[in-house]
Amino acid sequence: MSSKITLSVFKADVGGFVGHGSVHPDMLKKAEDTLGQDGMDLLIDFFVTHVGDDINLVLTHREGVDAENIHTLVWNTFLKCTEVAKTLKMYGAGQDLLSHGFSGNIKGMGPGIAEMEFEERPSEPVIIFMADKTEPGAWNFPLYKIFADPFNTIGLVIDPKMHEGFSFEVLDLIEDKSVKFSCPEELYDLLIFLGASNRYVVRSVFTKNKEIAAVSSTQKMNQMAGRYVGKDDPVLIVRCQSGLPAVGEVLEPFANPHLVTGWMRGSHYGPIIPVSQKQAVPTRFDGPPRVIAMGFQLANGRLIGPQDLFADVAFDRAREKALEIADYIRQLGPFEPHRLPLDEMEYTTMPLVMERLKNRFK
Ligand code: F6R
Ligand code: MG
Ligand code: MG
Repeated sequence: MSSKITLSVFKADVGGFVGHGSVHPDMLKKAEDTLGQDGMDLLIDFFVTHVGDDINLVLTHREGVDAENIHTLVWNTFLKCTEVAKTLKMYGAGQDLLSHGFSGNIKGMGPGIAEMEFEERPSEPVIIFMADKTEPGAWNFPLYKIFADPFNTIGLVIDPKMHEGFSFEVLDLIEDKSVKFSCPEELYDLLIFLGASNRYVVRSVFTKNKEIAAVSSTQKMNQMAGRYVGKDDPVLIVRCQSGLPAVGEVLEPFANPHLVTGWMRGSHYGPIIPVSQKQAVPTRFDGPPRVIAMGFQLANGRLIGPQDLFADVAFDRAREKALEIADYIRQLGPFEPHRLPLDEMEYTTMPLVMERLKNRFK
């Protein structure tokens, strides 16, 4: 057991209500009851919420990252939520639990995971971002702005504790290799990768003293039937203040909604809307993609909160702008760049159509 705190966030879609839109309250209740009972001796605290059809479990404990007992507790919790989903015939019950051969670590088993271990500071503000109908690359743009763009984060310029910048760890989702960039010195090298957010995604951000600042739920993709699968609806943990970006600097990139991949059938570009937790029920064309920001103060591992940070009226214009962009881009229907390029779509009929028409190509 460590003196350090571990903050772990797990997410899984184990059944949608209705379709892929939300999570039934009985499933959330089951998650809370299970963590409360089975996690009594293991957890310091926990918080359960949902974004769209994904259940998000926020846990604090002293077991470290990748702890078998924590991962087992979470796996069993998702299994129990699946049982409820099956009884209620929720849509796609158990869809994110890939295998029955669970052996102590959830990585590669379907759910998304972001975990970090640190010495809790005298005051420890953290923000947990959770998104639905998009992919891990969705964090590239905001993470760049938060930790490397002085036009977003004035602290990079005027806070002596931040002036030397941050390091980014970037994962190649296909090769499953990672690379570190020290910024601002290597900004331009970093950007050539971050701009290709379909393949290269930020896994973590560190201070120059190697303190962890941010971790995302990035996992490598698996190739199945000639296509890459396994990147879905990510979460992101960011520590804030006292030499790290301020809460407002961390939220600021979302004031100008960027375009992400996902939305209907995981096959479209659309704006990501920052919303309150209550508004985290995507319906229009199964979307548009959305993100919530839950703020907590940690107190010896206790999760004091949440503050629903995007509930602020100051994000109303971002929402309006995102809706305008959504109206515009929807008009393109099945045409790129609303619809994704052929090799990035989650659904495609192209091979079938091609096979049927192959003799007509002269
Ligand atoms: C996107 C998403 C939905 C589904 C769509 C079709 O991430 O979850 O847009 O892709 O509702 O779902 P199925 O194929 O289950 O009917
Ligand atoms: Mg779903
Ligand atoms: Mg989802």
